[in-house]
Parts: sequence; C-alpha cells; structure tokens
Amino acid sequence: PLVSTGELVSAAQADGRSVAAFNVITLEHAEAIAAGAERAGAPAVLQISENAVKFHGGRLSAIAAAAAAVARASHAPLALHLDHVESVELLHQAHDEGFGSVMFDASKLTYEENVRATADAVAWGHERGIWIEAELGKVGGKEGEAPLDAHAPGVRTDPAEAAAYVAATGVDALAVAVGSSHAMTERTAALDHALIGRLRDAVPVPLVLHGSSGVPDEEIRQAVASGMRKINVGTALNTAFTGAVRAYLADNPTGVDPRKYIVPGREAMATTVAGFLSLMG
Ligand code: G3H
Ligand code: ZN
Repeated sequence: PLVSTGELVSAAQADGRSVAAFNVITLEHAEAIAAGAERAGAPAVLQISENAVKFHGGRLSAIAAAAAAVARASHAPLALHLDHVESVELLHQAHDEGFGSVMFDASKLTYEENVRATADAVAWGHERGIWIEAELGKVGGKEGEAPLDAHAPGVRTDPAEAAAYVAATGVDALAVAVGSSHAMTERTAALDHALIGRLRDAVPVPLVLHGSSGVPDEEIRQAVASGMRKINVGTALNTAFTGAVRAYLADNPTGVDPRKYIVPGREAMATTVAGFLSLMG
C-alpha cells in the first residue's frame, strides 16, 4: 500500500530502526524496490529526484503516477517522496502528484538564504500536510558539482548550527553531512560516528543519511544504531542494474528485445534493495 514517509520515519524512530529510501529513475526501479521490500518484509520510500524529473523531460506526472501505482499494488508499505528539490515550482507540484513528503534542497545557498528558502518551503508543506526534509552542510558528489572532499571537516554539519537551523525552519527531518558522498560506485566511505551521535543529541528531528551507496554495510548498521532514521540509496541500484545488463548483453550479443536484458537488471536492483533493507534494524 501507499503510505507516507512521515509515518514510516516516526515508526522507525519509535523502534530505533531506520527507513531506507531508494531513488526511482524508471518504472523498473520502482518495481524492483517493491519486489525487494516484499522479499525483506520491510517498508521503503520510493523517491524521485529533481534530476530524474529532468530526465523525463521536466514532467513529473508520468513517473510519479507509475511509482504511486506500484506502491498501491505492493504488499509492502511504500511511500512516495520528492528528492533534492531546488525548484520551488517543482515543490508546488508535489501535492497534486500524490507526494506526502519532499526533500527541499537549499544547501547550495548561504546559511541565511538556506534558512529563508527552507522556512518558506516548510510553511507551504505544512499547510498541506506534507513532511519536509532539508539539508544543512554539504553531502558532495551531486550532479554537475565539482568533486568535494567528504572528509574535510569544513563540509560537515555542525551540531549547534543544525539545532539553530531546525528551530528556524521547522523542518521535519534533517539531512546531514557526516562523511558520505553522492554517486559513489565503491563502498569505501567512512562515517564520523561521533558526529552522528552529537547531531542526534543536538537536533530534535530525525536525521537523514544521503549518499549511502558508498557506505559499507557495517557503517550503515552503526549509523542506524547511532540515530540515522532515513538512509538514502540511489547509485547502488544503478550499479547493480548496469552490471547485470552489461553481463547479459556480453553473453547475448544478437538479441534486441529490451525485456530480455531489463529482467536481469531489474532483478539485480531488487536484490540490492533487499540487502540494504536488511541493515535497517
Ligand atoms: O538523495 C539521494 C541519495 O542521497 C542517493 O545517493 O546515489 O550516492 O546512493 P547515492
Ligand atoms: Zn541525496
């Protein structure tokens, strides 16, 4: 069934678990996330990023309707979330397209501008019952961005600033920079677990880990134990999909039916989803 991110994260918070959120680019991503969640017997979030909307010609409705239909038909509780939204115009489409939550990303702005833009997004969302996540600090590796040293202390989220930010904006959850970086294809990131603990103690709302594809299993388990409540995974699905498609095509160089190679790709994504879900506590 289709549920909301807010209810999944609140339930996880109450039980000391975390909710995994997976990025949807194609219909097959959504189907694979539903299959992986059913196999693991766990809920999950289907999240569509602003970049994925751009990939679909800037039109949100078709991919959102597809993901929502997959969620409604699933035996696992699945929520629909709009991810890394920088455009206020796209934010304002969330409600009509059936999203219960949005990550509004003003992290490229200065602190003051981030607070102002995010407070506006929260006011808009809360009038409509939409749960709003925002980011403070910089989780590097976003599309079109110069690579950033995720281990440099300057890019990490400061606990005192995070507390002030949450109070000033009213956000429902906070994405923090604690050593992970987006778009990693190897799982080599080392998280700052002491900082995660300090952020958990300083910030009254659930914490969100972005760029989790590059984080090893044991580091994710520890992050869940120390208070991360939403774990975002994107690239790992694409790594699994592309690897399986490449292997199929290498063995079958003459076929043309896309279903033949998409099936192993989708199955590889479902296996990856179930693997991440087994770490959520
Ligand atoms: O918001 C999306 C996530 O942070 C995904 O990051 O593609 O590096 O796993 P990732
Ligand atoms: Zn992210």
